[in-house]
Amino acid sequence: MNTFQQNDPLLPGYSFNVHLVSGLTPIEKAGKFDFFIDRPKGLNGYIINLTYAGQGTIYRNQEFFNCHPGDFVLFPPKEPHLYGRKDDENNWFHFWIYFRPRSTWKYLLTWENRLENTGFYRPSIKVKEELEQLFIKIVEVGQSTIIYSENLAMSMLEQFLIRRAQESSDTFALSIDNRVLQVCNYLIDTLDQNKFLLDNVADKVCLSTSRIAHIFKDQMGMSIGEWQQEQRISRAKILLQTTQMNIAEIGLCCGFEDQLYFSRIFKKRIGLSPQKYRYSTQEQNKRKIENINSLYLFDKKSHFIES
Ligand code: FCB
Repeated sequence: MNTFQQNDPLLPGYSFNVHLVSGLTPIEKAGKFDFFIDRPKGLNGYIINLTYAGQGTIYRNQEFFNCHPGDFVLFPPKEPHLYGRKDDENNWFHFWIYFRPRSTWKYLLTWENRLENTGFYRPSIKVKEELEQLFIKIVEVGQSTIIYSENLAMSMLEQFLIRRAQESSDTFALSIDNRVLQVCNYLIDTLDQNKFLLDNVADKVCLSTSRIAHIFKDQMGMSIGEWQQEQRISRAKILLQTTQMNIAEIGLCCGFEDQLYFSRIFKKRIGLSPQKYRYSTQEQNKRKIENINSLYLFDKKSHFIES
């Protein structure tokens, strides 16, 4: 059994047990990172890669495609990854963001597929610079240790996805029904209430319980109850990271009256108990600060362009 845990997301073995992590993978021929990213079962979240310099090749069974500077590639959850520097290129520098999307993002993540479910987007000249700069900025914010930086990176990522959807030709993406949005708002406003009554939700939008349950699932890809649970856990994560409140208080703020139940659900969803999650994010922040100088980011970029 392999119990080795890698702390560097650029090297194989990193767990990706996070909401958002971002970086630059600077692959140079025969260099430290010159190997294929090979994850036959994909990851649990999405990845977007932006080719910054050189070229990469993405393989799937017998097929492949190359990505050029300015190209974005989207790997949905569980989509196999097999990609690396294009054989005859000296390097491939790509920025990337790994993320668990907010539950309202489904319509923003239906990109045109290039190979199986791997999405591809090459922006027009008009927006290339804008989207590239925004993406790199998100990578930078995603690596920051400042309070709320993950929230900020998530908001910027939503902005990026919306701008991309506005500018791309694959905007067959569905837009969300107003009644579903109303339900989402209602659920967020009442997140601290322990009781969940589908009748109240249905009343809000003047539909029968079965009708709204059906429309919601169809649009959001999960039931109303599952969505609400996700929001509760997200709020709990923010409170664990950013406050000194004790676990029972946090549970209450997120609609869990029973602390044991809260801990059990949190662990099931996140893989760690609330206490361990709090500790691990504090540790991660410390490590980020230690690693920050060794991160190969903006100062190396100019060096690379010249070479
Ligand atoms: C890094 C890879 C990058 C991306 C992230 C999630 O190790 O270099 O392409 O897959 O992981």
